[in-house]
This record gives sequence, C-alpha cells and structure tokens, in this order.
Amino acid sequence: MAQKKTKKILITGAVGQIGSELTTELRKKYGNDNVIATGRKTQPSDTLLNSGPFEFIDITKRETVEKIIDQYDIDTIYNMSAILSVVGEQKPMICWDVNINGLYNILEIAREKEMTRIFVPSSIAAFGPETPRENTPQETVLKPKTMYGVTKVAGELLSDYYCKRFNLDVRGVRYPGIISSETLPGGGTTDYAVAIFYEAIKNKKYTCFVKKDTVLPMMYMPDCLKATLDVMEADFSKLKHHCDFNLASMSFSVGELTAEIQKHIPEFKCDYKPDFRQAIADSWPKSIDDSAARKEWGWKPSYNLQTMTKDMIEKLGERLQKVTL
Ligand code: SER
Repeated sequence: MAQKKTKKILITGAVGQIGSELTTELRKKYGNDNVIATGRKTQPSDTLLNSGPFEFIDITKRETVEKIIDQYDIDTIYNMSAILSVVGEQKPMICWDVNINGLYNILEIAREKEMTRIFVPSSIAAFGPETPRENTPQETVLKPKTMYGVTKVAGELLSDYYCKRFNLDVRGVRYPGIISSETLPGGGTTDYAVAIFYEAIKNKKYTCFVKKDTVLPMMYMPDCLKATLDVMEADFSKLKHHCDFNLASMSFSVGELTAEIQKHIPEFKCDYKPDFRQAIADSWPKSIDDSAARKEWGWKPSYNLQTMTKDMIEKLGERLQKVTL
C-alpha cells in the first residue's frame, strides 16, 4: 500500500504578527521539519529559528519562491505576506506588488506543481463605506477605498478563480483586527488595539489615533489560529465559499477597551488624537455576520473582550517584566 506523503508546508510572512504564531502552531501539529518558515528581510526570532527551517524569500520574485518550494518539496502554502492598510496608503504600488503580484506567483507555482492546498487570507478591509456596517453580510458590496482593500478583494477573486478554473484548493477568511501578545502588528489601522496594551502596562497611558467611539471587529490570536487551521482542515465537499469567509469574534469601541483594561490597571488613561487612519477605520464594518463560516466548517470563537483583555495583560505583563529585569 502506498504510504501517505507527509504534508510539507511553506509559510510566507512568517516573521509577521500572524505568521510567527501560525508557524509555531503548525510545527506542533505537523512536525518542526515539515513547516518551512520564510520571510523577506526581517530577522526571525530565536523561537522561529530554533524550532525548524527558516529561509529568506521575496514573493514578488518568483524564482526565490520556487527555489525553496523545490528544495523542500512543498505541497501546502500559507501565504501570510502582506502590506497592510496604513503602509499600503503610503506605498500603494508596493502594496499592489506584494499583495497581488506576489499572490499571483504563489498561485501560479501552486497550480503548476499541483499542490494540495493554499491559504490566502483576506480582511475586513475588503469592505468599504457603501457596505452595511452592522452585522455585515457574507455577500455584500465590496468597494474598498484603500489600496490594501483593493488588493484583498482582487486577491479573493483571483484565488476563487484558481479554485474553480484550475481545481486548486485555495481557502481564505476575512480576518478582523488581530490582537496578540507575541509579535507586534505592523502598518495596519487596527494596530492600536495591540499598542494600547503595551502602553497600558509600560506607561499607564496611551494616545489613540482613532476616536473613542470607533468600533471595529477584532479577534484574539488563539481564535485567529483556530480559524486558520479549521478552515484548512474543512471537508472540501461541504464548502460553498472558498476564499472569502466572513469571520467574527468580538466588536468594541476604544472607550470600551479602555474601560476593560482599567479593571486590571486602574491608573491607565487613554486620550485621543485621531489622524488619517480614522477615515480608514470609518470605512470598515463595526460587526460581521459570520454564519457561512459557522455553517460550512463549524467556526465558533472562544474569546470575548473580557477574556481576551485578561489574557493579554497576564501574558504581556509577564513578558514585559522579563525584558525590563
Ligand atoms: N489589520 C489590518 C489593518 O489594519 C486589517 O486587516 O490593516
């Protein structure tokens, strides 16, 4: 009987906020040597380097990706490389290059090599000001006003095209803002929801770049990892959607987040100095209807504002203390 081949996974953007913790999770599940972490420039952490293979690639340069894919005989890719919304507005052409030309390289290589499965994340940034903002439906207006959002919509469509036209098994979710304690996010609008914890613990004060009553959908990293792993494990025959699953967990305003942090750090104060990022936040939904994900692959989040805040303060408190000792 033929032996089932072990999955060989490549993660792009493995030094980033989601990629770094996703690498650890996938290594636990599939074995350290079967998960190849890759990044473009940023030096990886010791955890990443010491737990398995790491390589530098640039997804906009096809040959650098292909070389590593051949070297490790990769059959599954998590394409976590991306330029997020804020940097995307500062450097729109680079955002397009990485998020679309890079994605095209990944999909083309995967098609040519008949790979098993590809993960391509999307985002709440796929929506825009004309989209209903409360309980945003799965099927709705996709007219984003940021370059990041434009690449996310195009990326969903391109990935769905590869799925239908070439039978390439591509899957993806629309991540809300992701809150995590391990690796800082970089260049996004929702970054304040992470920065506020660092500043609350270190300095007991934070100046937020969006207004107090700004509400956005957010998710804690353990739920983000669970969603990513679960959608990739889902039974293909049960999926009606592929690359554009709405995903929700919690929604809160900065004022509500501040009040929750103050339950643990009563001296904490937050003030507000909205800048150009306010307009980006205002163009995104406040809450998301994720019933398609719940129905098609059993999605269910575990954390809410209270449990996330408690865990963040415990984890980050411990880490930041260790650093200052
Ligand atoms: N976190 C992203 C950003 O703020 C949204 O997906 O750009």
